[in-house]
Amino acid sequence: MARDYFSARRVLVTGGAGFVGSHLIDRLIEAGDEVLCVDNLFTGSKANIAHLHDHPRFEFMRHDICFPLFVEVDAIYNLACPASPIHYQHDPVQTTKVSVVGAINMLGLAKRIKVPILQASTSEVYGDPTQHPQTEPYWGNVNPIGLRSCYDEGKRCAETLFFDYHRQNGVKIKVARIFNTYGPRMHPSDGRVVSNFIMQALRGEDITIYGDGSQTRSFCYVDDLVEGLMRLMDSRDGFTGPVNIGNPVEFTIKQLAEQVIEMTGSRSTLVQHPLPSDDPTQRRPDISLAKKELDWEPTIELRAGLEKTIAYFRQISK
Ligand SMILES: NC(=O)c1ccc[n+]([C@@H]2O[C@H](COP(=O)([O-])OP(=O)(O)OC[C@H]3O[C@@H](n4cnc5c(N)ncnc54)[C@H](O)[C@@H]3O)[C@@H](O)[C@H]2O)c1
Repeated sequence: MARDYFSARRVLVTGGAGFVGSHLIDRLIEAGDEVLCVDNLFTGSKANIAHLHDHPRFEFMRHDICFPLFVEVDAIYNLACPASPIHYQHDPVQTTKVSVVGAINMLGLAKRIKVPILQASTSEVYGDPTQHPQTEPYWGNVNPIGLRSCYDEGKRCAETLFFDYHRQNGVKIKVARIFNTYGPRMHPSDGRVVSNFIMQALRGEDITIYGDGSQTRSFCYVDDLVEGLMRLMDSRDGFTGPVNIGNPVEFTIKQLAEQVIEMTGSRSTLVQHPLPSDDPTQRRPDISLAKKELDWEPTIELRAGLEKTIAYFRQISK
């Protein structure tokens, strides 16, 4: 139900000009919240939030969260962090900084103004898991010195900081472990598997598969993820997570590629490249906790989500 003028919350979304953040902001505005979007536009873009430019309950601030921020808000969603390997490996030191120093700054803000803060953590905290599917108590299997470590270990340290601010300072925290998400406004050249396959199919190029394509992934449509994040923010006092938010339906990378080829009507063919280092072979969330605590589960099937995503990429590549 939409909030009215008097109950409108002012919500800070860091990383709000990015893929997930911009969809979250759309939903918050729709629900009647006022939104302050803070983003340094490293991977995000003004185009993702251009439609909100003149909205009376929307405000944009260009700012790097590695520097302190002093604002008055009622809740914080901390999403700022490059999410695709191409982007987070471009400047790995900055990736660790935004995860760790950025988290310290945002937690400091939440502590000072006494508001709840949600962290966009990731399934990458499980690394190359030895447990399948992954449940939240599983501690993960992560390489601390590899090419992906800036992101994986940065996000793990951010979780540590969230729980220490909670235990030490009573900050109300909510930690979401997000699994692979796709949808419109993904960066077309960020190398993530769904955007990669769709762009390659639309251009009629070879579709690159790493390894033999038998590694599995689960793909969550962005609207489902945003619903999960909002339910987590509004969840009962004392529920901190971490909670897996993702789609448990598993597909092999090869199946995804074939579905994209079929749906785009492309003449692309599949070609195999060597597996990048530390690429997990299997990743699938156990979402029992999200079902129990948030009454949440994904509702959008891969085909329906791909249709919208393909339509978006067709439109931006015109
Ligand atoms: N999309 C997924 O599949 C996925 C999966 C797991 C976790 N996540 C997490 O969700 C969040 C959003 O991911 P996304 O897919 O929308 O990525 P994205 O790259 O599209 O969005 C990240 C946003 O953060 C901004 N940003 C980066 N560094 C910043 C800084 N120092 N200060 C301010 N803003 C900064 C970027 O400009 C961008 O707008 C990230 O924290 C990511 O780790 C996403």
